[in-house]
Amino acid sequence: MTERSAADEARIGELTAVVTGAASERGIGRGVALRLARQGRPVALLDLDPVGLESAAAEARAAGASHVLTAQVDVSDQASVDAAITAIERDPAAPPIGALVSCAGIADPTPFLEMTSQNFLRTLSINTLGTFHLAQRVLPGMLEQGLGRIVAMSSTAAQDGGGNFSTSAYAASKAGVEGLIRGLAKETAGTGVTTAAIAPANIDTDIMGGRLEGERREQFVARTPVGRLGTVEELGELVAFLVGPHGGFTTGSTYNLNGGLRVG
Ligand SMILES: NC(=O)c1ccc[n+]([C@@H]2O[C@H](COP(=O)([O-])OP(=O)(O)OC[C@H]3O[C@@H](n4cnc5c(N)ncnc54)[C@H](O)[C@@H]3O)[C@@H](O)[C@H]2O)c1
Repeated sequence: MTERSAADEARIGELTAVVTGAASERGIGRGVALRLARQGRPVALLDLDPVGLESAAAEARAAGASHVLTAQVDVSDQASVDAAITAIERDPAAPPIGALVSCAGIADPTPFLEMTSQNFLRTLSINTLGTFHLAQRVLPGMLEQGLGRIVAMSSTAAQDGGGNFSTSAYAASKAGVEGLIRGLAKETAGTGVTTAAIAPANIDTDIMGGRLEGERREQFVARTPVGRLGTVEELGELVAFLVGPHGGFTTGSTYNLNGGLRVG
């Protein structure tokens, strides 16, 4: 294998970062997109929600992104993902895709015995298959340019068997994401493409059935060893490292960001 140079990876910051799940106003995808935008990076924002995408795009422009694209997409639908990525690739003002940050996801609190196979499949189709669709679609371009970063949101639920607002289907879907990220790291070894999963818990967003307030918020805080909820800004910092010029010597790993909820 020819020795690679870390210096060659500096140009990652000039390439387009695709962020899925970017519409949610207080969500992780939006926080990640704005963090990268503040570095002046070109960003492509993908989500099911076109209205949220518009406000996310306005914020990303105001934050300093050098180029902003949006695409309405259902990540569970391969044709929809293909159309969105094709549109980004055809935009003459958009640099090639250098990074994918897969944040689109759902949590389903249905207990195991009440869960139908349709419920189960829906969670897997969005959380796991969605990540697969995106990664498979952007990978050829990354391989061709010899540089790319693929980061996907897992969850503490993958290691712990369920989250605060989710049960076994969610845990299975996120364990699948982590396996996919490990497998992809092996399959892309030495190509300049690296992968990572992030396993968050108790980040202050609306995914746990709406805004955490009052007694419910106090319960979440009491369960979090560091004594507070995590922020999308903290998550954005981790992603900025992983998809930045110094993130190229880690691949296939899962990064916990959970306030000490689960250590190790
Ligand atoms: N907030 C947390 O504490 C936490 C903990 C563990 C994991 N996560 C993971 O982080 C990711 C982001 O979570 P969040 O808290 O920002 O949630 P959120 O609900 O605020 O945002 C999720 C986004 O995904 C989008 N989305 C849902 N289904 C989609 C589909 N089929 N196609 C395209 N977009 C779709 C939604 O429209 C929304 O904008 C998720 O994968 C979630 O499982 C979050």
